[in-house]
Amino acid sequence: MFKGKSLAVLTSVLVTVTCVVIYLEWRAVQDIRKGLSGTELKSLFAKGRHALLHRMVISGGHSWGGPAADTRGPGPPAPAAPAAPALRGASGASTTVLSVAGSDVELRPDLRISTELPSFPTPREVRHPSCIRDFDLQTLPRASLVIPYLNETWAQISATVASLVAHSPLEVVDEILFIDDGNAPEWQHHHELLSLHPKVKVHRNEVRQGLIRAKVIGAALIDSPVIIFMEPHCVVSRQWLEPLLEQLALSKDHRTLVMPTLDIIPENNFNQYLPANHHIGGFDWTLTFGWKDLIEKRNSSYTYPDPYPTPALSGGIFGIWKDNWEQMGTYDINMTEWGGEHIEMSLRTWRCHGRILVVPCSRMGHVFRAKNPYIVHVPEVMKNTKRAALVWLDEHLEDYYKKVPYARQIQAGDVSERIKLKESLECESMDWYMDNIYPELRAELTPKPHHLRTAHH
Ligand SMILES: *[C@@H]1O[C@H](CO)[C@@H](O)[C@H](O)[C@H]1NC(C)=O
Ligand SMILES: *[C@@H]1O[C@H](CO)[C@@H](O)[C@H](O)[C@H]1NC(C)=O
Ligand SMILES: *[C@@H]1O[C@H](CO)[C@@H](O)[C@H](O)[C@H]1NC(C)=O
Repeated sequence: MFKGKSLAVLTSVLVTVTCVVIYLEWRAVQDIRKGLSGTELKSLFAKGRHALLHRMVISGGHSWGGPAADTRGPGPPAPAAPAAPALRGASGASTTVLSVAGSDVELRPDLRISTELPSFPTPREVRHPSCIRDFDLQTLPRASLVIPYLNETWAQISATVASLVAHSPLEVVDEILFIDDGNAPEWQHHHELLSLHPKVKVHRNEVRQGLIRAKVIGAALIDSPVIIFMEPHCVVSRQWLEPLLEQLALSKDHRTLVMPTLDIIPENNFNQYLPANHHIGGFDWTLTFGWKDLIEKRNSSYTYPDPYPTPALSGGIFGIWKDNWEQMGTYDINMTEWGGEHIEMSLRTWRCHGRILVVPCSRMGHVFRAKNPYIVHVPEVMKNTKRAALVWLDEHLEDYYKKVPYARQIQAGDVSERIKLKESLECESMDWYMDNIYPELRAELTPKPHHLRTAHH
C-alpha cells in the first residue's frame, strides 16, 4: 500500500520533470529558430543537443526584440549625433566622431551556463533585413584571423573569442591566431586562450615588435588564402564574416580590401552597442584619420546596404587576400609600434590598383577607447606618419609640412625601399588619388570662398 503510493508519487514526479525538460528544450529550439538561419539550425542539429543548448546560451540576445535600429534603408542621411562620444578609429587612429544610426541599443550580458565559452554581450540584430540570408560556404575562400594583443583585459579578449566562435562559420576558418606582442606574464593568457577553442593558436614575440610588425609576423605564419586582421576588443555579430569573404571572392584580381562596419561599444559600458552610420573613412593633411561624410551624402545613387568604397581604412580591422598582401608589400616594417600604417595602406591600396570597401552587412562592435592600454610614444607615431608622407605625398609633401611643421625635423629613416616598391607596382600619383578617390582632400587645400567664411554677420 505504502510502496504503491510512493511509486505513484515517484512516477508523477518523473513525468512532470520529463515534461518540463521537453518543454524547455522545445522553447530553446523556438528561441534559436528566431535567431538563427536554416543552415545554422541544421548544422546545430548535426552537432547535437549540447551544441544546441550551448549555442542558445552564447547567442542569446535575440529574445529582446523591438525594431532593428539600422533597417532604414538609404533614407535621408542622419545628422552626426551630438550625443556620440569622441571616438577613435579602430586601433585608435585619431579622435574623431562617428554618428550613430538609430537609437542606443542596450545589451544584457548573457547568463552563463556553458562551461566552454566565456559569456559576451550579444548585439541585438542591427543588420538590414536583406543581409540576413544563407551563404554557400563552398564558394567562400578560407580565412585565418590574426589578432595581436598587448596589455588587453581578459574580459575583452575572451568576449572577442567567444563571439568569434559563436558567430563565425568555422568551416571556413583555419586559425584564430593571437600574437602575444611581448606581454608581461600577467597579460599573456596563453593557456586560457588555447583552451577556448582548438582553432585558437598563440604565437609569442619575446620582445615587443609593435602592432605593425606583429601583424606582418602573424600574416606570415598562416596558410589561408585570406587574412582577416582583427583586434582583441570586439564583439562580432552574426554572419559577420560571410559577407566579407563573399566580397573578396568577387575580386577576381584579389586586389580588394574589405572592412566590416564597426559599431560602437563605449569604453565605459561594455554592454552597450551603438549601431554606427555609414561613414566613409578619410584623413586630413596632418594624415590623421577621421570618419567623414555618410556614403548616402557622397553618392546619391548609393543603395544601402551595398558595399561602398572608402578612401581610407580606419585602422587595423580588415580582410585581404594573402597573395595581394604580399605582392603589395605588407606593411612598412620600419614603422614602429603603432599608428600611421593605416593611412599608408590606404594610399598604397587605392593608388596601386586596389580598392577598399566597407561592407555594411558585416558588423562588429568595437570598443573605441580614449586611450591605448599600452604606452604609445608620440615621436614613433610621428615618425611612422612622416614615412608615409615621404613615400606617398609626392609634390604634396609641403602641404603636410605646412600642417605639421615640426615633422620636418623628425628622423624618419631610409624610405628608399618603399619608394622602389611604389615604382615597381606602378602606382598612381597623389593627384590621381585626389581626383578619383578622395576629392574632399583636395578641397581642403583651397581656402574657403570669401562669401562662405563671412556668411554669419
Ligand atoms: C555611386 O553609387 C553607384 C551605386 O552603388 C555606383 O554605381 C556609382 O559608381 C557610384 N558613383 C561614384 C561616383 O562613386
Ligand atoms: C629599414 O631600415 C633599415 C635600416 O635603415 C634599412 O636598411 C632597410 O632598407 C629599411 N627597410 C625598409 C622597408 O624601409
Ligand atoms: C604593459 O603592462 C605592464 C604592467 O603589467 C607595464 O609594465 C608595461 O609598460 C605595459 N606595456 C606597455 C607597452 O605599455
